[in-house]
Amino acid sequence: MKSVYIAELSRHVGSEVLLQGWLYNKRSSGKVRFVLVRDGTGLVQGVVTSDADPTVFALADSLPQEASLRMRGTVRAEPRAPGGVEVSVTHIEPVHVPATPFPIGLKEHGTGFLMDHRHLWIRMRRQAPILRIRDGVLWAIRSFFRERGFVATESPVLVGTSVEGTTTLFPLDYFGAPAYLSQSGQLYLEATCAALGKVYWIGPVFRAEKSKTRRHLIEFWMAEAEQAFLDHDGNLALQEALVRHVVEVTAAEHSRDLAELERDPAVLLRAVAEPFSRVTYHEAVSLVQAAGVEMEAGDDFGAPAEDALSQHFGRPVFVERFPAAIKPFYMKRDPEQPDLALCADLIAPEGYGEIIGGSQRVDAEEELLRQLDEAGLSGEPYRWYLDLRRWGAVPHSGFGLGVERTIQWIAGIPHIRETIPFPRTLDRLYP
Ligand code: 4AD
Ligand code: MG
Repeated sequence: MKSVYIAELSRHVGSEVLLQGWLYNKRSSGKVRFVLVRDGTGLVQGVVTSDADPTVFALADSLPQEASLRMRGTVRAEPRAPGGVEVSVTHIEPVHVPATPFPIGLKEHGTGFLMDHRHLWIRMRRQAPILRIRDGVLWAIRSFFRERGFVATESPVLVGTSVEGTTTLFPLDYFGAPAYLSQSGQLYLEATCAALGKVYWIGPVFRAEKSKTRRHLIEFWMAEAEQAFLDHDGNLALQEALVRHVVEVTAAEHSRDLAELERDPAVLLRAVAEPFSRVTYHEAVSLVQAAGVEMEAGDDFGAPAEDALSQHFGRPVFVERFPAAIKPFYMKRDPEQPDLALCADLIAPEGYGEIIGGSQRVDAEEELLRQLDEAGLSGEPYRWYLDLRRWGAVPHSGFGLGVERTIQWIAGIPHIRETIPFPRTLDRLYP
């Protein structure tokens, strides 16, 4: 008999099916045994009555949590069950019966314990829908760029230079030469964009950030795009279209996963229905101060400031034209106000913080040399990057979307650590 996945069971009502999976939970009620089985695509309840073969009934009684098994039975419509079906079980064949109890029970555990057991925690109820949503978000990003003719070009992870300031670099020994783990693939995308016009990549980036917050990882994934002949305004329009596409596609394709997480897709769709809000850095500072959060003009936004903005607008908001002094060397200055950068951060609604950072890039060599110098960076390791301004320099812009923060917002997850299979945080490199 061909096996069927739990997510497809509603198409097999009335038929006999074979399921392959793991025992998630079981309970008994009088002469009936209920086995909750998961297979990665969902959870289904198997019902074993006393009419079943006594060995099947005994297995339903004795198999421990996370025993792997094959189960045969007839699919029945059950409107109250998740997925709308349950299975009347006729056969159970154990595949592996654990000799010791599974460390993670169905009761609450502390975060430290769960993180120590992350390799097993991912089997638990909330985790599968989050990881399926992660997959959906990544595909939605790829489909967006593909539909618009962007070419995926990968940036290296081992690099010789910093992009986002030297304080968060991970130093490495590259056969005797200094090297780092990449903080962002941007500089390389600027090179490939001059070759291919419109490019993007999705890859892991690294920041040795000493911050232990619910929005920071040490290793995270960024979706970055770069487009030749794109100016600041065009850059914001592209970002807005991407975020709207990702939210709409994920809400449509993962409605069951969102429901399992008790995340209302209508809240997400409402947030992206209207054009995103747009304020300047200085307007944003005034709004933050008016909301009673302490900050001075010239400071970067901390989490409380971002939350105040998020609350004020109730939908994604671009904060644009930051003081150039608090932004990286590669950002083009606003010709009208040269102390400001032609950049924007996109702040997600509901307090999920900054999900995108982007800017128009410096396109003149002298200007770039001056800004490298102002940032205290030697031009030498950036020679190849300076070359891009020597031959056919064009106005160009791009951005980086934080994949995990976007998943956090879409799935409504309080802490970023649950949005990636194996989070790397300040105090954790294991498992
Ligand atoms: O704003 P960032 O630092 O921008 C860049 O790195 C640019 N070079 C991107 C570009 O223009 N191509 O990072 C981009 C996004 C942030 O908006 C945030 O969503 C996410 O990456 N991010 C983090 N996510 C998780 N943990 C961290 N430590 C993060 N740091 C940034
Ligand atoms: Mg940023």
